[in-house]
Amino acid sequence: MKILIFGKGYMGERCAGVWADEAVLSDVRVTSVEDALAEIQRHQPDVVFNAAGVKGKPNVDWCEDHPLETILGNTLMPLMLAHACQQAGVYLLHMGSGCIFYGDSHHEDKAWKEHDFGNPTPVYSRSKWAADLVLTTLPNVGVARIRMPIDWIPSPGNLIDKLAGFDKVIDVENSVTIVDDMVEVFYQLLEKRAPGIFHVTNPGTMRHRDLIQLYEELVDPTHTNEWISNDELVAHGLATRGRSNNTLASENLTKFGITMRPIEEALRETLEKYAAAKKEEEHGCENGDNCCGGGCCGMDGGGCC
Ligand SMILES: NC(=O)c1ccc[n+]([C@@H]2O[C@H](COP(=O)([O-])OP(=O)(O)OC[C@H]3O[C@@H](n4cnc5c(N)ncnc54)[C@H](OP(=O)(O)O)[C@@H]3O)[C@@H](O)[C@H]2O)c1
Repeated sequence: MKILIFGKGYMGERCAGVWADEAVLSDVRVTSVEDALAEIQRHQPDVVFNAAGVKGKPNVDWCEDHPLETILGNTLMPLMLAHACQQAGVYLLHMGSGCIFYGDSHHEDKAWKEHDFGNPTPVYSRSKWAADLVLTTLPNVGVARIRMPIDWIPSPGNLIDKLAGFDKVIDVENSVTIVDDMVEVFYQLLEKRAPGIFHVTNPGTMRHRDLIQLYEELVDPTHTNEWISNDELVAHGLATRGRSNNTLASENLTKFGITMRPIEEALRETLEKYAAAKKEEEHGCENGDNCCGGGCCGMDGGGCC
């Protein structure tokens, strides 16, 4: 399968790394339907994956002061890409966000289902929801929503690095996405050209406390932080807008025979791999090398010997 990826950021690079020879990571900045169509015609992909978007730098609060740039990147650009894909007759999988839901749903279990309408107020979430709302009216389009990516590879976008780096952490419970599992699910959705909305979150929920507890057990026993409530995040001036916290029901993946590991199992395994990667990083090893007593032994596989 030839996959053309738009968006050379965290997610685009991460998926391209795993999909290897099957993926082409586009350099093109899409500002029109013609830009996207020309790139599709140049590469002749079987499917298109959209990992391009604007999530704000250094964080999502940036979007509050840059609504137009946010809407252009998260709403207009996906629509232009979808237009080009429809014209070319190619399936599009678009990366959405579970952060379009705030608080509990009206369902008995309080979880948000794929077909529920979003209730966002912040600019970033509204721009993502606006894209979902209209993209899902088109045939041959899938929207894959993720939440709070947790990865074994250390990086600024990884929830492990984010939480471990904060002095004050909110104690909240959420549906979350393990990146290894996400990349595999995206591949299957692309392979099946699955239409509709998909909540790509691991079954079960995670409290930030669960992640920090494992971090202290497996990565850094000296780590400390203060616990605060979600309301205190804004009151303490640590964020402009309150963050989305929610649980998502994932009902549509199973209709395509796609499953994800329970979060408890996937989280521990990811933290174990993350701890090994950190050790290798500290010993100056390249990816794929193992570190032995401070040096690199050059063997493939995870962990330090
Ligand atoms: N990471 C998360 O926590 C998370 C959670 C839920 C959903 N998502 C969604 O997943 C997608 C990818 O996120 P990410 O973490 O990979 O973000 P990222 O690291 O910021 O990457 C997004 C990439 O898209 C590029 N881009 C923006 N506008 C573009 C355009 N018009 N044409 C081509 N490229 C464009 C950006 O380039 P510049 O930086 O040069 O502008 C950037 O390289 C986004 O849609 C995001 O909303 C992410």
